[in-house]
Amino acid sequence: MADSFEIVRTIEALRARVRAWQHDGHRVGLVPTMGGLHAGHLALVQASRKQTDKTVATLFVNPKQFGPSEDFESYPRDEERDVKLFTDEGTHLLFVPPTGEMYPDGFSTSVSVANIGGILEGEYRPGFFTGVATVVTKLLLQAGADQAFFGEKDYQQLQVINRLVTDLNIPVEISGVATVRENDGLALSSRNQYLTPQERGTAPALYKTITDVAEKIKHGENVSNAEVWGSETLIAAGFESVDYVSARDAHTLEPLVDPRKTGRVLAAAKLGKARLIDNVPIADPI
Ligand code: PAJ
Repeated sequence: MADSFEIVRTIEALRARVRAWQHDGHRVGLVPTMGGLHAGHLALVQASRKQTDKTVATLFVNPKQFGPSEDFESYPRDEERDVKLFTDEGTHLLFVPPTGEMYPDGFSTSVSVANIGGILEGEYRPGFFTGVATVVTKLLLQAGADQAFFGEKDYQQLQVINRLVTDLNIPVEISGVATVRENDGLALSSRNQYLTPQERGTAPALYKTITDVAEKIKHGENVSNAEVWGSETLIAAGFESVDYVSARDAHTLEPLVDPRKTGRVLAAAKLGKARLIDNVPIADPI
């Protein structure tokens, strides 16, 4: 249990708390979320609790990262439930800004990350990474934390954030946290609740298939043959369509030309109302 817990809804109050802690010599960790909490989010809180002295979580369903036909309206929102989960995990401070606090009238600036932000998810969800990069830049600057935690579940998002923090010289250390999975391998996601029981039975094929693709590449199979095999396997398993199954350089996410380099297999595929994404390493990072 937390020694103390507080909710703040203004940037001013957030900054005041974080500055006071830092003034007292504490290292502060930041865990941005959109709520709909599950054990994946809580693993970020646990990582922050281990590596810092004070953990600040944020809860904000960011309208700028949803496309016009996406699920902004229906995205799971239950502040009371999320507050209980955050407090039980030992979060010290929760920032829950109203939309007007984040995007007041006249708001006109966006952060757009070229290259790594334009491929894969960036191609299939135009505007998504600009929405993410804009809100994450704001949250990092608002909080002024020493370290911020993001899940490897959204691997490209993590790399886009690494890029913007480097490019904009934001003084924060970014840490990735391993993907938390169900026993059958399905990566935990707030959007898994859109799956019917039958689709839920099919969903673990995504993790299994990309794990097999990574194994094939590791054992010398041609990269594009392995990718095609992955897409066909997902369709055969019952996915309606596959946006991509792609082996990439683990840092730049450029196509993997030399399979001996550290690589990552990333995939996105549609199953009923859900669009699932997942990724695995090709070899253990050197
Ligand atoms: P959200 O989807 O709520 O995820 C918040 C954080 O939890 C992200 O860093 C995400 O990668 C991590 N996460 C989600 N599922 C996970 C899992 N199964 N294992 C480990 N970590 C997991 O990602 C966002 O929100 C937003 O884009 C945000 C960064 C908050 C900006 O709005």
